[in-house]
Amino acid sequence: MIKYLVIGDPVAHSRSPKMQNAAFESCGMGSPYGIRHVKPEELPEFFEYARTHLAGVNLTVPHKLRAAELADTLTLRAKQCKSVNTLIIKEGLITGDSTDGVGLERALMHNFDLPVKGKSFLFAGAGGAARATAIHFACAGAKRIMFLNRTASKALEIIEDIDNLQTGCFCGFIDSKEREFLAAELKNTCCIIQATSLGLKDDDPAPFDLSLLEANMQLVIFDTIYKNTKLLQKAAELGIPCAGGKEMLIQQGAESFRLWTGMEPDLDAMRAGFELPPGGVEA
Ligand code: ATR
Repeated sequence: MIKYLVIGDPVAHSRSPKMQNAAFESCGMGSPYGIRHVKPEELPEFFEYARTHLAGVNLTVPHKLRAAELADTLTLRAKQCKSVNTLIIKEGLITGDSTDGVGLERALMHNFDLPVKGKSFLFAGAGGAARATAIHFACAGAKRIMFLNRTASKALEIIEDIDNLQTGCFCGFIDSKEREFLAAELKNTCCIIQATSLGLKDDDPAPFDLSLLEANMQLVIFDTIYKNTKLLQKAAELGIPCAGGKEMLIQQGAESFRLWTGMEPDLDAMRAGFELPPGGVEA
């Protein structure tokens, strides 16, 4: 019986059902994880369904912000980043949590052995993904976070939220037209996090002028997109350590699994599930 769902609009492309069912199966719990297309206006009604029929939910675009308002209660980290990607449902109470930030933090350890604490980051993007992960990084002890985004106001909102949390993390905005500032930041940062949606389509432009990247730079590049983007291709050409978004999806899903079951998932089984064709049982 389906007790867990991933919901989104669109959602058919989701790799979560195969990945999560691989974790459930390796714990002898069958395949209780399905998929449902939920439009934004259907979200309140979905919450009432979930309250009585489900044990857990993952939410993807565009539901993460609204879900933070609809949940009965939020974990501290979901409150801090005002975003929810996981619902934990127990005895009719819906708790919202955000595992995106910890997912990216563990992906950086897995891919590059790079801790967040004490390090400097350059985030390209200031949408939902950048918000949840950057705020987590500030709370996890990042020293400095700079944002590069087409719309300055969205980056400034995240910076204000981080400042209000008084984490001690220094934050700022870089206008991508100010090439010399960006060039200087690339020499200072430990890691670029590409968190815009650019790269999903093959003809998307790069998130910034890639000619600013140089072979001897002491940084790593993580692209939250699962494809071999122009940014990742350029990094590979220059010999800069780089990784796509796969491990972040695995790690955020693994954290959801722990919250639901209290068990440790088989990460290699989840990685193998990720490689299967996307989609799952509609329920
Ligand atoms: P997600 O939840 O995946 O982060 P989102 O909240 O829609 O999705 O955010 C998308 C991000 O990609 C934003 O940073 C957006 O920039 P704006 O804040 O200026 O909208 C960025 N983005 C999307 N399309 C873009 C484009 N064509 N050029 C530059 N940035 C783009």
